[in-house]
Formats: sequence, C-alpha cells, structure tokens
Amino acid sequence: MSRSSALAAICLSSGLLVSACGPSGGASKTAVEAMSSPAEKQAALASLPAPYNTGDLENGERQFGVCRSCHTIAPGGRNMTGPNLYGVFGRKAGSVDGFAYSDAVKAAGFVWDGAHLDQWLTNPRTFLPGTKMSFAGIKAEKDRVDLIAYLKVETGAGKTAVAEPKTQP
Ligand code: HEC
Repeated sequence: MSRSSALAAICLSSGLLVSACGPSGGASKTAVEAMSSPAEKQAALASLPAPYNTGDLENGERQFGVCRSCHTIAPGGRNMTGPNLYGVFGRKAGSVDGFAYSDAVKAAGFVWDGAHLDQWLTNPRTFLPGTKMSFAGIKAEKDRVDLIAYLKVETGAGKTAVAEPKTQP
C-alpha cells in the first residue's frame, strides 16, 4: 500500500474531518485559521488589556462595516484605498510595503496601539492633519472601544497580547 492510500484509509476509518485529510496530508491548521472559532476569539478578547477585554465583538464587527470598503484585515490581504490592517497593532504608522501613504502618516513616527487608534478613529483629520483617509470619525467612545477590540482580535493582536502603554492624561 502506498503512503497516500494508507493515509486515506486512516482518514476514512478514523472519521477525521475531511479537511484534515486534504492534499497536504492533514497538516495542522495555521494559527490564523485556528483563531476563527468563536471560543478562540472570546479567549483572545479576554487576553486584551482593559478596556478592550470587555469589548463587544459583534458591535465591533458592525462598526468595521464602514472601514471594509477601504481596508482588508485578513493576513496578506490586499491594499485597497487604504492599507491592509493585519498586524497593525505594534506596527509603525505608515509602514505597509507598497502602500502610498500621505506624508502626514509617513511622518507620524508612532507605533499603533489602542490609544493611538482611538484618537485616529475619533477624527483622523484632526489627529493627523494632511491624512488622505477620508473618514469622518466615530463619535461614540463605546463604538470605538468595540471596534478596536474587534480589530485586535481579528488582526492577530490578541495572540501576542500587545502591551498597551499608559495613556497620557
Ligand atoms: C474612504 C476610505 C477609507 C475608509 C472608509 C477608512 N479608511 Fe483607514 N485609511 C484609508 C487611507 C487612504 C489610509 C492611508 C492614510 C494616509 O496615508 O494618510 C488609511 C489608513 C488607516 C490606518 C493607518 C494604517 C497604517 O499602516 O499606518 C488605520 C489604522 C486605518 N486606516 C483604520 C481604519 C479603520 C479602523 C476604519 C473604519 C472605522 C477606516 N480606516 C476607514 C482609507 C480609509
């Protein structure tokens, strides 16, 4: 019996999920795919620093609806009108390869964290005058917290639990 037919026999007889018996011979799922179950997302949420650990992921996803026309958040997602946001937490502002940022964002010089994103999402144009992100802002603080919690969970920050530096008063 060849190696592949042996594998097929194991897969059939053990009742494993069909996906685990694909062409790759049942290679383990990547960490990113593994994050997709609701329980794993809730665990990632709980690992976030306050106030994001009590964020409402459903509302966050709803809020992200207004970002979706310009941004992808999946790993390796393409740049659209705005840059791909996977891994944005802990990344220097304006540093996605191949995206043509405004000088305002290129020169910003900070690393994205919840506090910076909160200011950015309140009003991008007053936070970084000269930005080309045409977005009016999200007025309700709770909506921003929920959106940032959602973004952290979806863009991989929950897995590494990016530290939140103390916010200025
Ligand atoms: C109309 C299109 C558009 C919408 C809607 C939009 N963005 Fe953007 N976004 C941009 C553009 C363009 C840039 C680059 C800005 C620059 O270079 O000045 C950007 C930049 C960013 C950055 C900085 C990324 C980096 O690599 O430094 C973040 C974070 C971001 N957007 C988050 C969001 C979120 C969250 C939303 C939804 C609330 C949103 N954006 C809505 C177009 C958009």
